[in-house]
Amino acid sequence: MNMAQNPTALQDAIQKVASSLEERMGQLLSVPERTSSTVISMGTAPKPEGADSHVRGADTILEAMRYSALSGGKRLRPFLTACSASLFGVSWEAAIEAAAAIEFIHTYSLIHDDLPAMDNDDLRRGKPTLHKAFGEAAAILAGDGLLTYAFQILASPKIHPDAAVRCDLINALAVASGCWGMVGGQMMDLEAENETLSVDEIIRLQRLKTGELFAVSCEAGAILGKAPGMMRNLLRAYAHDMGLAFQITDDLLDVEGTRTETGKNVNKDKIAGKATLVSVMGVERAREHSQILIQQAISHLSVFDKKADNLRALAEFVISRKV
Ligand code: IPE
Ligand code: IPE
Ligand code: MG
Ligand code: MG
Ligand code: MG
Repeated sequence: MNMAQNPTALQDAIQKVASSLEERMGQLLSVPERTSSTVISMGTAPKPEGADSHVRGADTILEAMRYSALSGGKRLRPFLTACSASLFGVSWEAAIEAAAAIEFIHTYSLIHDDLPAMDNDDLRRGKPTLHKAFGEAAAILAGDGLLTYAFQILASPKIHPDAAVRCDLINALAVASGCWGMVGGQMMDLEAENETLSVDEIIRLQRLKTGELFAVSCEAGAILGKAPGMMRNLLRAYAHDMGLAFQITDDLLDVEGTRTETGKNVNKDKIAGKATLVSVMGVERAREHSQILIQQAISHLSVFDKKADNLRALAEFVISRKV
């Protein structure tokens, strides 16, 4: 039985990545010891000024960052990075390091997405959102802290000894996260509230707000493994289609899911007047479209052998999930 037919094998593989990722994120977000060298001082990089001292504000911000980063989550983007890294012989440690950076960006995007000025949500991963637990200012700063920390991690030689590879990864993550990617898509998402967008406009919005981070998560392994451009592009194409199907499923779960299963409030997209493929196509057509996208995503993987089976299985999973 291959992984696509065996959901338990996929869940085990995701869990293995999640465990290593959470252990590493826990180290990265721990309060530095006063005396010994700390995880914040990575590789040969100089220890940041003040990293040894217990400053109350620094402790508070790390606590807020831990609250969100270590509160569960499906860890799908880290899994994509680990899967693509394994295709190109990248070490587990380097893959987890890159995955932690990307998951920090994802976590920051969720913290800010939930703020009153954006989606104004009070529940995330079954817990009060960060601004509800720590206040709005701490939530803004924790997001900023995670965003900047991601690039600090990627600048370290621990990621890759070749500075050109690190720059490539930093550039790819910056493009995917900023105004050309997630941030741009989030702005479009807010501007589109209570506006009628065409299907093409919604696809563009969702490609930016969700698809770009999926794409760079999958490309990261190829970058670290110095894979040919063609392979990178195929992995990006796979992740883009899967990311769009993933967002359609998120939008379907907002209509059909439960607060208990998703750990988020439901029915909020309609109330906020969000432009989604579910709102313009209806539930059934949107679901069919997500299935087509998943077949398309898998077709981009045809040059890869069975080593890419976990990516194939993940694609099937993202549209069948209830969480
Ligand atoms: C939620 O992403 C935000 C979207 C892009 C829809 P996930 O559903 O991956 O969130 P977690 O990390 O599992 O909580
Ligand atoms: C958010 O999309 C995508 C991000 C870039 C954070 P949603 O606003 O639909 O995500 P949820 O439903 O709050 O997780
Ligand atoms: Mg949103
Ligand atoms: Mg939201
Ligand atoms: Mg949503």
